[in-house]
Amino acid sequence: MTVTIYVPKDAAALALGADRVAAAIEREAAARGLAVSIVRNGSRGMHWLEPLVEVVVDHERIAYGPVKAGDVAALFAAGFLEGGDHPLCHGATKDIPFLKQQTRLTFARCGIVDPLSLDDYRRFRGLTGLEKAIAMAPADIVTEVTDSGLRGRGGAGFPTGIKWKTVLDATGPQKYIVCNADEGDSGTFADRMIMEGDPFVLIEGMAIAGLATGATKGFIYTRSEYPHAIAAMSEAIEIARREGVLGPSVLGSGRAFDMEVRVGAGAYVCGEETALLNSLEGKRGIVRAKPPLPAHKGLFDCPTVINNVISLASVPIILDRGAAFYRDFGMGRSRGTIPIQIAGNVRHGGLYETAFGLSLGEIVDHIAGGTATGRPVKAVQVGGPLGAYFPRALFDTPFDYESFAAKDGLIGHAGIVVFDDTVDMLHQARFAMEFCAIESCGKCTPCRIGSIRGVEVADRIAEGIEPEQNRALLADLCNTMKFGSLCALGGFTPYPVMSAMTHFPEDFSPAPRVEAAE
Ligand SMILES: Cc1cc2nc3c(=O)[nH]c(=O)nc-3n(C[C@H](O)[C@H](O)[C@H](O)COP(=O)(O)O)c2cc1C
Ligand code: SF4
Repeated sequence: MTVTIYVPKDAAALALGADRVAAAIEREAAARGLAVSIVRNGSRGMHWLEPLVEVVVDHERIAYGPVKAGDVAALFAAGFLEGGDHPLCHGATKDIPFLKQQTRLTFARCGIVDPLSLDDYRRFRGLTGLEKAIAMAPADIVTEVTDSGLRGRGGAGFPTGIKWKTVLDATGPQKYIVCNADEGDSGTFADRMIMEGDPFVLIEGMAIAGLATGATKGFIYTRSEYPHAIAAMSEAIEIARREGVLGPSVLGSGRAFDMEVRVGAGAYVCGEETALLNSLEGKRGIVRAKPPLPAHKGLFDCPTVINNVISLASVPIILDRGAAFYRDFGMGRSRGTIPIQIAGNVRHGGLYETAFGLSLGEIVDHIAGGTATGRPVKAVQVGGPLGAYFPRALFDTPFDYESFAAKDGLIGHAGIVVFDDTVDMLHQARFAMEFCAIESCGKCTPCRIGSIRGVEVADRIAEGIEPEQNRALLADLCNTMKFGSLCALGGFTPYPVMSAMTHFPEDFSPAPRVEAAE
């Protein structure tokens, strides 16, 4: 009997030796004369257990991890093909608390299926949403997405259905769907994981967006640092085209939609939608002034939907299960689920999909298990490099768009980066300004010049030079950047800086500089 073994091909698992583990399993099985079939799946999102090897025993997947190539012989000796006990065994994968407590809608298949098997995809309800969309009028698809309450997962949280309606109502010789897969935020990896672990869900979401708005061509714009995602997406697109999911007649509907992957050169600002469009057009990645909105005049001046990977990958389940099903999860105006990416100094880092509404404290202390160093948590940066730092005092903040905004923060692409009590928040504030100075596209003065002045002022505070005046100057500078910048790179850099200064004032009061004696 052939035993099925899953060894992830996700970049995080590969970085930790998954290819060597797969090869070692094949060698060991051959040496013992045992028949195994190795499936290279996506990640389950429990990064501290990667590479997480799963063995199918009596239709149940038993987890072992983190497995190194050197562990393989001992695992065979312990009888892991029958689910044998071993210090690396965690029992049934589905019962691991980190996974069991999640609500996986967008990531329902990630880590479970063979990412490049369309049969697997169909077996787990794949393409059901697209089939339903084909039977609907475009305006009804848009209404379904609007009614689901889905908001953009790229950062701004703009209602996806409203964006789609603007493109549906716009006229132009050609319309486009652009998927923003630049994923530049620190501590984020949800887009990469879905592209590597379940690429067909993104293809399906983009095809539905095309049917809904009248767009026949899609682009996935991603980063050169994602070679595995680029390979998986490109291959999945080829398969989808071959199988008639993409092309001149989507699933035999007579309606066309096709797409391709484009790779950026690694500028953070190219994740900003208008800079992204310039980059896609082969121009320098510089921000465009709005209006016109991309929905009216986007790629090559045509009406364009630009959505984040997770926004688009959440659409198939909305069409499949209905708007009300999706809307029933969440709180307030934040509906559905959100894949929280837990990173930094944590015991249990990874991807945790859950309905909106968990408190930040629950996420950091319970789900992430506190810090990896065992030291107290001092600060958590939520929402990437432009997100605010939250102190423990704000750990009761529920994870939703409005609650974070009310505390001068943002959830952005839902990445959280945890720091222990050794972090110096003045240093972090300086880093935010430095990051902005390096990544600024240079179009507007508050960002281009303000960020450089910000670094200089932070340095003067660190050196104890006129600290009170320089703290006031830093706050004033932040105000200018916040209200005077053209886009959110310059406009949101004040969030990490001001939150650091507000919540951790002690780090901004170093000892006054002692002038050297004449
Ligand atoms: C500096 C900057 C970087 C951004 N980077 C990304 C990114 O990497 N991925 C993303 O989806 N959105 C990013 N955004 C947000 C996009 O401009 C845009 O709001 C988003 O692609 C819209 O998709 P959504 O409505 O599905 O979120 C960035 C914005 C700014 C200002
Ligand atoms: S805020 Fe910065 S990145 Fe945005 S347009 Fe101005 S200079 Fe460019």
